[in-house]
Amino acid sequence: MISIKSSREIDLMRQTCSLASEVMEYIEPHIKIGVSTLELNDLCHNYIMEKGAYPSPLNYHGFPKSICTSLNEVICHGIPNKNDILRDGDILNIDITTYLNKFHGDTNKTFLIGNVSDEVKKLVDVTYKCMWEGIRQVKPGAHIGDIGAVIQEMAHDHGYSVVEEYCGHGIGREFHEEPQVVHVGKRGTGAEMKPGMTFTIEPMINLGQRHCRLLKDNWTVITKDGKQSAQFEHTILVTESGYEVLTLRKEEDPHGPK
Ligand code: MF3
Ligand code: CO
Ligand code: CO
Repeated sequence: MISIKSSREIDLMRQTCSLASEVMEYIEPHIKIGVSTLELNDLCHNYIMEKGAYPSPLNYHGFPKSICTSLNEVICHGIPNKNDILRDGDILNIDITTYLNKFHGDTNKTFLIGNVSDEVKKLVDVTYKCMWEGIRQVKPGAHIGDIGAVIQEMAHDHGYSVVEEYCGHGIGREFHEEPQVVHVGKRGTGAEMKPGMTFTIEPMINLGQRHCRLLKDNWTVITKDGKQSAQFEHTILVTESGYEVLTLRKEEDPHGPK
């Protein structure tokens, strides 16, 4: 069952989601060569707690930290660690989920560290455009499958692959709700979108092949071929006429890049 949020619930979703995007803006200047992913975790943790909220990942099915930090070949769910020090040429995804007033807001962004190769910079740029192309499909009467269809097409046009094992999700009172938002698929398939639905769109796009491997920590997901993977995520509300990006940052256009 896909929950439809009332106008009161939508207002609470707006609040938790704007906190999540505020945390992303807060952490950005700290993401520099020489800093550890654990330091970034601790800064985000303290910021979220000071706002009277809670970092949803912490203890979620046993996840040990407050944010996910996924470096280079890590696709998602990387665990912050004092020994993971950012180096010139890295790409780092920071995934932030806040729990405020009983509602979750979820967003992630891939950052470039120092001088990143043109090849990998382009992967990050195209991944961002894939997310926005997915977002632009959202309106009442459209189908969840429309999102994956356009993301898959754009990624494949650039010779990239799309991760299929992990996907976007409904979000609200629960961190992960129905529906699953797969980032591949066919137009016209899947659940029909209705006003008041809230879900994430969070494509993971690989420079090489789509296959993944789970590390022995049972969280960190890496590419099988060791090549880089990029990801962006927003929490989206289906409105009467289209969509509202609840985790939009100040730097972003409400309808994304053209
Ligand atoms: N924020 C991630 C998502 O986009 C989920 C992280 S689950 C965790 O769905 F346990 F690893 F934190
Ligand atoms: Co998510
Ligand atoms: Co997330």
